Amino acid sequence: MAAAQFSSGISSFTNHSPAIAFDSSLTSASSISFSNNLNPTLLAIRSLETRRHHKSSTVCSAVTIDNNSEPMELDTTLSPRVNSVKPSKTVAITDQATALVEAGVPVIRLAAGEPDFDTPAVIAEAGINAIREGYTRYTPNAGTLELRTAICKKLKEENDLSYTPDQIVVSNGAKQSILQAVLAVCSPGDEVIIPAPFWVSYPEMARLADATPVILPASISENFLLDPKLLESKITEKSRLLILCSPSNPTGSVYPKKLLEEIARVVAKHPRLLVLSDEIYEHIIYAPAVHTSFASLPGMWERTLTVNGFSKAFAMTGWRLGYIAGPKHFVAACNKIQSQSTSGASSIAQKAAVAALGMGHAGGEAVAHMVTAFRERRDFLVSAFGELEGVKMSEPQGAFYLFLDFSYYYGTEVEGFGLIKDSESLCRYFLEQGQVALVPGDAFGDDTCIRISYAASLSTLQAAAERIKKAILTLKSPASV
Ligand SMILES: Cc1ncc(COP(=O)(O)O)c(C=O)c1O
Repeated sequence: MAAAQFSSGISSFTNHSPAIAFDSSLTSASSISFSNNLNPTLLAIRSLETRRHHKSSTVCSAVTIDNNSEPMELDTTLSPRVNSVKPSKTVAITDQATALVEAGVPVIRLAAGEPDFDTPAVIAEAGINAIREGYTRYTPNAGTLELRTAICKKLKEENDLSYTPDQIVVSNGAKQSILQAVLAVCSPGDEVIIPAPFWVSYPEMARLADATPVILPASISENFLLDPKLLESKITEKSRLLILCSPSNPTGSVYPKKLLEEIARVVAKHPRLLVLSDEIYEHIIYAPAVHTSFASLPGMWERTLTVNGFSKAFAMTGWRLGYIAGPKHFVAACNKIQSQSTSGASSIAQKAAVAALGMGHAGGEAVAHMVTAFRERRDFLVSAFGELEGVKMSEPQGAFYLFLDFSYYYGTEVEGFGLIKDSESLCRYFLEQGQVALVPGDAFGDDTCIRISYAASLSTLQAAAERIKKAILTLKSPASV
């Protein structure tokens, strides 16, 4: 491939830097030219050719130097830590669906885990006022005292948990809070116990910490809830962290208090074992299901790290705000990691979050309104898919996902498409033939299922259900064998 030539450099480069320009449409296999008209003798790099070495999966670059020197190989090997991490399938399918929409294909996107509601006005106003009033500077690394105090109040009143502001760290989303906690408590070789189906990022975060994810499957017949006996049988001296998520992404299951108490009794026998309780969907819950914070159970406060955030209940995904609460020793370690990576979260988002927590118990009217809509959508989908032959489900009690077992249809050969052999091929089939984007259960550690996000209007869900049903009926037609 011919090297792309650029004459104009990027204006922000200093006198001693080569002027570099690049075309963002170029792929990693492209050629890019550097020109340095400022210091030609020292930096006479003329061309850089990047090529992939497929066998070693290492990308090497041959750099040609002027002044008759030999070409050198630039080592562009990535860290084994990065190589061990799988990219997110939810992001991949969302990108594929977006590309189809951009190409004019009317795909219904039910893959993303993002509420379709706008951030409530009172929160948005608080953000706007924060900018107007000049709250635009760095905040303390752990978050403003105002917000951490409001979080402590919320945890006391809604979750029966006592924390002081120095036991809270606010981060750029609950995702960051979880990663920091995993990095803070796991040593290389430690085991992180993760019930499956799981949120896609948990095992990868364990790998980033050089720990080993230990996946404990929970079946649809048990409402995808962890069996305490299975947990007990899998704990070893290497077990360091158990990750619980209730209400769950991707299943919508909610752990009843009694089951959490049984799990707590198992955990209590192991002094090395900590628990990370991801409660980000806490407010999106359908009565009679009730949320219980794991740290509120007898003996669990000392070993539990509670994670929550604003993305889901308050429709604030783009504001990027989450937090962790726990014993100071662990939370201070998370704070230290954050201090050397991202520093404090956005000052504007923190002002908005204070307003969110001021909206009343469990988010008040505005959140209750969204939960009512989610519940209506859940009821619609449960009845729509309940009619479908061979499809199994566990009725979600919270969050905004339905995790359906479609494995009855695996093994079907479709003319013009090929074999539907697993959740990934079935999702591809639904996308290509039904124009509905869903996420394969494989991404969540359960290949029998597919996740439908019902963070979309009822009319959109009605149209999607029709398309999925039609695609399923085609699978059963004589054209498929
Ligand atoms: C179970 C679970 N935990 C944590 C997160 C992270 O949320 P955020 O980083 O937006 O606060 C998500 C987002 O999809 C989630 O589904």
